[in-house]
Amino acid sequence: MDHLSFAFTSDGSKTLFNREVGEHYHSRHGALQESKHVFLNTGMRYFLEKSELEKVKIIEVGFGTGLNFLVTADFCSENNIELDYTGIEAYPLKQEIIGDTGYEKYITHDLWDSFTGQYEKAQKSVVQIGKSCKLKIEPEKMLDFNSKEPFDVVYFDAFAAVHQPEMWNLESLKHISKFLKTGGVFVTYAITGDLKRTMKSLGFVIEKAPGAAGKREMLRAIKM
Ligand SMILES: C[S@@+](CC[C@H](N)C(=O)[O-])C[C@H]1O[C@@H](n2cnc3c(N)ncnc32)[C@H](O)[C@@H]1O
Repeated sequence: MDHLSFAFTSDGSKTLFNREVGEHYHSRHGALQESKHVFLNTGMRYFLEKSELEKVKIIEVGFGTGLNFLVTADFCSENNIELDYTGIEAYPLKQEIIGDTGYEKYITHDLWDSFTGQYEKAQKSVVQIGKSCKLKIEPEKMLDFNSKEPFDVVYFDAFAAVHQPEMWNLESLKHISKFLKTGGVFVTYAITGDLKRTMKSLGFVIEKAPGAAGKREMLRAIKM
């Protein structure tokens, strides 16, 4: 994995830089703030408030270091929310890299121990993390992913369209959107005219939400 190196972001949290892709895994304005703002707050917490449910099924595109899972699972454990989380990851990171992220500072010890202890097992079967969270990491490309069960929220955390345009085209977005329930929420850190048009054509209502630090806006889309 010599194409990967750690970098610090503005809020002190670490991210990875992938030299082959030429991009960081998170915003350089703050990995932790981006994860909390875009995915936890604008995605899952919005869904829970709107649906008044106390359980949620999330699918993430691009599981990477697991930061989005960790902040989500930490919130769910603290608030007695039942979480069922699936992370799709074409190139799962080695356990040693996960251990070096420093993300244990942002969550409980029990959650960190349970996640790092079961990270490799989660790539083969569903694992229980704490009392209320289930995790499965699907080690495959997004277009190869399939599921019979629909999800409430999509965390779309692919590399940016300039580096990986195929993740943002109609075929890819249509594929991932079919796993979302009606009324389900799709969130991503970016927003472009193409993305808005594609999501509208797939039957979503588009909302421009305030962006994470360093970005004016981000996309939230609701499946109708
Ligand atoms: C922006 S990073 C995601 C960061 C991640 N959410 C985290 O918190 O560390 C994009 C991720 O997408 C993964 N990826 C690239 N191509 C993919 C594909 N076709 N299907 C699924 N994942 C892919 C990369 O390996 C990388 O982990």
